[in-house]
Amino acid sequence: MSVVVDNIGLLVTNDRALGEGPLGILRDASIVFDRGVVVSVGPAGQIADETIDASDRCVIPGFVDSHTHLVFAGDRSDEFAARMAGQPYSAGGIQTSVAATRAASTADLAGLTNGRREEARRAGITTVEIKSGYGLDAANETRCLQVAEQFSNDTTFLGAHVVPAEFGDRTDDYVHHVCTDMLAAAAPHSRWIDAFCEVGAFDADQCRAVLAAGKAAGLGARLHANQLGPGPGVQLAVEMGCASADHCTFLTDADIAALAASDTIATFLPATDFSTRQPYPDARRAIDAGVNVALATNCNPGSSYTTSMSFCIALAVRDLRMTAEEALMAATLGGARALRRSDVGVIAAGKRADLVILDAPSYRHLIYRPGVPLIHSVIEAGVTVVAPSV
Ligand code: NIG
Repeated sequence: MSVVVDNIGLLVTNDRALGEGPLGILRDASIVFDRGVVVSVGPAGQIADETIDASDRCVIPGFVDSHTHLVFAGDRSDEFAARMAGQPYSAGGIQTSVAATRAASTADLAGLTNGRREEARRAGITTVEIKSGYGLDAANETRCLQVAEQFSNDTTFLGAHVVPAEFGDRTDDYVHHVCTDMLAAAAPHSRWIDAFCEVGAFDADQCRAVLAAGKAAGLGARLHANQLGPGPGVQLAVEMGCASADHCTFLTDADIAALAASDTIATFLPATDFSTRQPYPDARRAIDAGVNVALATNCNPGSSYTTSMSFCIALAVRDLRMTAEEALMAATLGGARALRRSDVGVIAAGKRADLVILDAPSYRHLIYRPGVPLIHSVIEAGVTVVAPSV
């Protein structure tokens, strides 16, 4: 049965061929979709079997959240409070979540992940990547990925998150374990391999070994890079052909030049910098140099416990010096590119029917009205997954 979303006041398609500017904007528009796929985008008044009246609201592509750690148990609000009182963020807190995740049943992990995925839907996120990384042994990483694949096709094996306590300082032994037994168990449940390239986690050679092993097993590569300080991560991500270098909080001129000359997306995670009291990345400098960028929530229990892409967009405009248009595109088409997906992030014929109706006349209200819930309804693969509240 075909459906038309009619009387759209302002439609962002992200397709220059369909409308004005890089966002491909149409006014007084409608979208027809059938069996989960967009059939046509055009002026208001197109006919279909069923009509959803947008009543002059703004419609945007569903958000594509290309970096999350949704599978975990436990709570680290005490750690967050200590940080707000002046403690620095360090990778060490990850062990707290590892202990809680290992202790949780698979059913409990699935229930917790489902709750977070539903929360993300209510925030307008129609595509989500989900990493492991709180299991840190073959059985627990595999269990976490089996949970993740119930909610996403973009699952990422992050065995190289930190060295688990039982390995002490035997980091190279653990890396070998990640590249062999853990990878063999995790790969059938993963599309991507990732590593945390940072002081206190893994160095460039260790991350290179992990990414190379993952690629040899058929996985795509992505990397946590330059989160807590300058380092080799961004340039390693480019060297390894990663789809995305994530965080990029500290970027040198050489990092920016390497990204600009590559097809690696720089994924900014500004809610992390907010929640860890880090400086914000200079997205303006990167974009002006020709770097392709994405925005993601990095929803996780330690450094960024939010599913609000609207919050990330507001931070990106206020603190990363992106325009509203750049931020919206980064949270939609940018995320799709970071996941090397061509079926989402754009509203055009042949693409998945993923759309968000905003309770606002313009996407600019996402920044102009920070903290206000502006998601009116969400359609994912042609199905209304978030209905307007009455
Ligand atoms: O992307 N940086 C490493 N991993 C997560 C944080 C994980 C945690 O603190 O639990 C991140 O920020």
